[in-house]
Amino acid sequence: MKGVLLAGGTGTRLHPLTRITNKHLLPVYDRPMIYYPLQTLVDAGIRDIIIVTGGNNAGDFLRLLGNGREFGLKHLNYTYQERAGGIAEALGLVEDFVDGDKCVVMLGDNILQDSIAPWVEHFRHQPRGARILLKEMENPEHLSHLGVPIMDGGRVRYIREKPATPPSPYAVIGVYMYDSTVFDIIRTLKPSGRGELEITDVNNAYIDRGEMEYDVITGWWGDAGESISAYLEAINFVAQHGVLRAPARA
Ligand code: DAU
Repeated sequence: MKGVLLAGGTGTRLHPLTRITNKHLLPVYDRPMIYYPLQTLVDAGIRDIIIVTGGNNAGDFLRLLGNGREFGLKHLNYTYQERAGGIAEALGLVEDFVDGDKCVVMLGDNILQDSIAPWVEHFRHQPRGARILLKEMENPEHLSHLGVPIMDGGRVRYIREKPATPPSPYAVIGVYMYDSTVFDIIRTLKPSGRGELEITDVNNAYIDRGEMEYDVITGWWGDAGESISAYLEAINFVAQHGVLRAPARA
């Protein structure tokens, strides 16, 4: 199983903080944001990881993470997205790296309290298709900034991206598991209204094929790039309760 950590994009929702650096390098309590999703992948037993980044600060990721020694890794891979063409476009860049394997894709601004290892294990045993993780949101205000599933008879029927009126209380969080056919789907995508190749269109393609499974997570989850208030919420949660994270460097 390969790991793909997406850390490109423009981060405009966190301006002016992100005018001079990449969003994923900003601090979340005492670690740079990207440390959290990287630790989540490593904790799930994934050792073969690629980071997709972009913009002017791409070199800083190498300086910060190197070969991933701090995370117990022997090696980390990197690639560069030339323009912020969307999450699915960023994923399309790693087809050669994934090389026919299954992959777990994680957004670099997502922070989870708990391990995803049980859900990755479910996906290891899933013969084909995709798997998403859902989180029931206490504060429905977040949902209009996220992907929200329409549920019916215990199945996900469709995912709406950033709906004005959320069709369920669940968010599709930024951890996606795919078989290698994901790259064929990405080749068929057209840019959305905001000019991006949308990961929600990828997920809806798997739903149409009847090949989408899901798990519902119960621990805390945050998208630290959603807004300044979501960023602050993530910092406060990590400071007060702690989440999965790499040990401090000796
Ligand atoms: O956080 C979960 C949400 O993430 C999902 O509920 C939504 O369905 C999904 O579309 C996504 O929404 P966002 O609006 O939060 O996506 P954002 O543009 O913030 O991008 C998320 C991450 O993906 C970000 O950490 C950087 C990376 N990214 C994004 C773009 C647009 C790239 O690597 N390249 C890109 O071109």
